[in-house]
Amino acid sequence: MKTYVDGTMGAGGHACAVIGEHLELVTFVGFDVDPLAHAIAPRGARVLELNTVLDNFRAMRFRLDELELNGKVDAILLDLGVSSMHLDSPERGFSFGNDGPLDMRMGPSCAFSAMDVVNEWPEEDIARVIRDYGEEKHWRLIARRICERRAEAPILTTSALVRAIGRVPGVKKGRSGNVHPATRTFQGIRIAVNDELGAIEDAIPAAIDALAPGGRLGVISFHSLEDKIVKDIFRERAGRAPPPDEGPVSAWAPQPEPPPKVVKLITRKPLSADEDEVRENARSRSAKLRVCEKL
Ligand SMILES: C[S@@+](CC[C@H](N)C(=O)[O-])C[C@H]1O[C@@H](n2cnc3c(N)ncnc32)[C@H](O)[C@@H]1O
Repeated sequence: MKTYVDGTMGAGGHACAVIGEHLELVTFVGFDVDPLAHAIAPRGARVLELNTVLDNFRAMRFRLDELELNGKVDAILLDLGVSSMHLDSPERGFSFGNDGPLDMRMGPSCAFSAMDVVNEWPEEDIARVIRDYGEEKHWRLIARRICERRAEAPILTTSALVRAIGRVPGVKKGRSGNVHPATRTFQGIRIAVNDELGAIEDAIPAAIDALAPGGRLGVISFHSLEDKIVKDIFRERAGRAPPPDEGPVSAWAPQPEPPPKVVKLITRKPLSADEDEVRENARSRSAKLRVCEKL
């Protein structure tokens, strides 16, 4: 492997492991939207060309073009979502467990923060975010509570948002095995603030195009919305026709042409962390890894 792109450097765990393992590596490119990740970016002495890019990985096609690397990359990794550094820093406003300003921006390029969503968006838009990105059953109720609360005073902190959400039917707070009542709402708002799903939809086709023949793309996702996008794009690029949108298709109807096959699937089913890894790193519990290889 000569050229490796890490789309989500974070604390550099994967990047350092790959650089350390592949002594033959010549070029490393590391993306992250968060300036903090760049402050601690790997400075592997053995890599000849080390490029760190403070940008969204959705700009990968353009950024790799600048580096004249499109079509030449041997491996790309996207380890999606927020990092432990985000979740464990109250001042970033991602965690309902730590009080902090209601921010949730992974980087300064976001157009708005969680505070803007919660205090300024119309109730129906907040409800849509909680339903579609949070997959929260009680989306209507929670959006209404948020809007009632903000009419009394602006919601400025994570704990104020937790209080506005209140108790959610069927979720007994504090019981082991139960998710916190604010979990899904926080997830939904975070995805909206960072346009996380749009970025994945843009980045995966660009990443596949950037690979050299035989190069591999690995994507680690943490919830079903991310995994579905990864699965669908991988399958489509592997030449499988997308499932019909609605209803059965008549046998006499013209069948759609299968899309051209540009990758083969290395993982038919996603790989999950084993028990040892989950014991060591509880957040790996929901991780799913899918890998494809450019033909
Ligand atoms: C799960 S962490 C990655 C952890 C990293 N693999 C490690 O080993 O330390 C995800 C990182 O990707 C960054 N990130 C998330 N979405 C991004 C995007 N669309 N473009 C660039 N960076 C992104 C976040 O800021 C965060 O630092």
